[in-house]
Amino acid sequence: SMTKKKLIAGNWKMNGSVEANDALVRTVIGGLQGATCTVAVCVPAPYLAQLQMLRHGSALELGAQDVSRHEQGAYTGEVSATMLKDFGVRYAIVGHSERRQYHGEDDQLVADKAKAALAHGITPIVCVGETLAEREAGHTEEVVRRQLATVIHTNGHCITEIVVAYEPVWAIGTGKTATPEQAQQVHAVLRAQLKAATPQADRVCILYGGSMNAANAASLLAQPDIDGGLIGGASLKAPDFLQIIAAAR
Ligand code: G3P
Repeated sequence: SMTKKKLIAGNWKMNGSVEANDALVRTVIGGLQGATCTVAVCVPAPYLAQLQMLRHGSALELGAQDVSRHEQGAYTGEVSATMLKDFGVRYAIVGHSERRQYHGEDDQLVADKAKAALAHGITPIVCVGETLAEREAGHTEEVVRRQLATVIHTNGHCITEIVVAYEPVWAIGTGKTATPEQAQQVHAVLRAQLKAATPQADRVCILYGGSMNAANAASLLAQPDIDGGLIGGASLKAPDFLQIIAAAR
């Protein structure tokens, strides 16, 4: 809808250091005055405590890049939603294509992670997107609909509380961005799928991710069903990230 606040979320992936984070976050926070969108950074788990301190008193929101589907216990290496909550985390990315690809995460696990986040008041940013082979075979809509369907089925009426991120795998880290028209076409499919599940589908933010940068952000964000961005590489450079934020009116 026209009055919905856009969301610009940085996904740092496995990048950062205490020293680099300090400089980056101070510059980003310093440039946030006048921002009309919600701004978040999704950081590696070891830096959540540092970010909690750095963002104190600012409008910058904090996110994680993953969350366990389990509550607590014998799950070595996992981080629970309750733990994230302890550090003021508001968002958790779930089902990023890098986790689907390198860690074998399937649709049901991603949906269960979204459910665990929602149960603790954390907004899951649910990533969906097709590979190049799937796009070329004409399966884009089928793939993203299947990925989102499991999340809807598992989370019921709570899906009004999720954020969806459309990230075509072929556009991630490649410098190849989906055109605004290509992205809007998929966003409209996702919106229609949400509408069939809830009368409040217009409230759900659908982000675009994949080589979004200072130069292409405005035209992507001008599309009717693109409600923000999930930014990888460009979120590691404060001037670029701030230009994207400025484009999200
Ligand atoms: O989650 C964001 C992402 O996968 C996009 O990465 O580097 O293409 O902006 P990048």
